[in-house]
Amino acid sequence: MAFPQTRMRRLRSSAGLRGLVRETDLRAGQLVLPLFVSSATDASAGAREPIAAMPGVERLALSAAVEEARLAAGLGLGAVMLFGIPAGKDEHGSGAWDEEGVVQLAVRAIRAEVPELLILTDVCLCEYTTHGHCGVLLEDGSVDNDATLELLARTAVSHARAGADMVAPSDMMDGRVRAIREELDAEGFGETPILAYAAKFASAFYGPFREAAGSTPAFGDRRGYQLDPANGREALREVLLDVQEGADMVMVKPALAYGDLISAVKRETRLPVAAYNVSGEYSMVKAAAAAGHVDERAIVLEILTSLRRAGADVLITYHAKDAARWLAAQS
Ligand code: PBG
Repeated sequence: MAFPQTRMRRLRSSAGLRGLVRETDLRAGQLVLPLFVSSATDASAGAREPIAAMPGVERLALSAAVEEARLAAGLGLGAVMLFGIPAGKDEHGSGAWDEEGVVQLAVRAIRAEVPELLILTDVCLCEYTTHGHCGVLLEDGSVDNDATLELLARTAVSHARAGADMVAPSDMMDGRVRAIREELDAEGFGETPILAYAAKFASAFYGPFREAAGSTPAFGDRRGYQLDPANGREALREVLLDVQEGADMVMVKPALAYGDLISAVKRETRLPVAAYNVSGEYSMVKAAAAAGHVDERAIVLEILTSLRRAGADVLITYHAKDAARWLAAQS
């Protein structure tokens, strides 16, 4: 039956009816807050260093990271995800698996001070290598896939040993999920889950993150290992391979321009799906809001709801604290 018997507006005519038929929910517990933990000890820089392209996001010294974690727990966020900005870098990125490295120290500190909070760690080498690539290099400047696997696995184990609840490899090397799973199991961390950055695209939306983390490649780009934004089928193959290798959760990244993949991954796997609402997506909203062009609160909640509607169970977003406050004020 169509018009005039059917009138779609009937169920939209009051807040009560709209609430009753709302298909998608958004809760603070679904949100993950990324934290940039810096080993900078320079007192003059302070415990918090603003990131110009990401208003409201800061590089945090250890003490400030613990404060942020406490805030995240208080707001009921699902988890924090830690990124490290080490004091020094080398060709192999050895700071990544240093037991006294910045992420390892932060995990231990947060675990001790905010025991109820779930801690995820990003596993990659790009923040720790002098050249800024996500693995070790071959003579020709390309990333050596197989030699990198062992280093990623070592990094993941060091995070688990420090007390991370889940490790999230973001490097896009082939076989890393399997390598990490085997090493975690061998080292007694069989219960530590892996969130694979499974469909991670070579994206211009990561620009502000690279400024924040100091991880811009010194030469070339990441197209030799991250996905081509033009390729959806290939992205799905990547995801299914990560599932086969033992991923417990899979991620699509970036989020906003990749809703088709969020929904395809949700349909094609039976795993929880995470969407990473990345730095450039955050910066665009903040810049437009600061210019008075959009209503920040409304637009952020709409974006996050749309990612849930597309099929994401978990949302990794720099808006997490604000969104949690707005959601609490709504209810
Ligand atoms: C590290 C990593 C990146 C992001 C998450 N992990 C950067 C990259 O791949 O260049 C991007 C996150 C964001 O833009 O918010 N490999």
